[in-house]
Amino acid sequence: MKTMWSVSLQRRHVHSSLRLMKKFKGKTPAEQRWLTRQLKDPYVKASHAQNFRCRSAFKLLEIDDKLRVLQPGHSVVDCGAAPGAWSQVAVQRVNSAGTDSELPRGTVVGIDLLNIPPLDGAHFLSNHDVTDPATHAKLLELLPNNRAHVILSDMAPNASGFRELDHEKLITMCLSLVDLAGKILQPGGSLVCKYWDGIFVHKLQEKLSSVFGSVRTLKPNASRKDSAERYFLARIVNKYRII
Ligand SMILES: C[S@@+](CC[C@H](N)C(=O)[O-])C[C@H]1O[C@@H](n2cnc3c(N)ncnc32)[C@H](O)[C@@H]1O
Repeated sequence: MKTMWSVSLQRRHVHSSLRLMKKFKGKTPAEQRWLTRQLKDPYVKASHAQNFRCRSAFKLLEIDDKLRVLQPGHSVVDCGAAPGAWSQVAVQRVNSAGTDSELPRGTVVGIDLLNIPPLDGAHFLSNHDVTDPATHAKLLELLPNNRAHVILSDMAPNASGFRELDHEKLITMCLSLVDLAGKILQPGGSLVCKYWDGIFVHKLQEKLSSVFGSVRTLKPNASRKDSAERYFLARIVNKYRII
């Protein structure tokens, strides 16, 4: 019996090793390193198990579990939404698919330069630039009363390979979101935005602090330890701050 067990275990081991070898075939060493990390990552496994479009869902879940940013009935703008995992979380939390008939139904609008596959409960502005005023006009039409309770941004520019340059680019994108927040956020609204740590963070922090009453830095566990990625959560505590 013991021998049968070990033979079956050996076979299984050989099968999974063969499957792995197939996955690695034809890949560059950098691609193999990326694949190895993905295969080991518990958040990647959990995102498959829970049908999230990517592992980043767990960053927003963690932020929201801790700080309760998303409430049923809220209107949410998800900037840089592709492939749509944050929007999946937002749809669940604000009840925009109307899954719970006892709760108010929210709205989720996602925007991305790329195509975002459709999602029940969300409106997507695919192939749209969040920083473009023409996008803002379309966004306003999709928001009830032209207002949002929450702006989420997990936006990131295509990495150039120059860390400082990418950092500065993302800070500029986040600064434009603060202007958008001034136009569309409800009194009491929140902005969650990703940035990469670096020398210009103080510019963003200062601008956020001048507009929002409360600003805090977050590094969710699902955000890789070796990444410069951080999030700001800014909340309007004084309803007269934004006009
Ligand atoms: C890390 S991904 C977002 C992942 C997303 N939060 C999710 O959970 O599926 C960053 C996205 O930002 C988008 N992006 C970058 N610059 C943008 C811009 N100016 N306007 C809209 N989207 C932008 C990229 O196309 C990319 O899809």
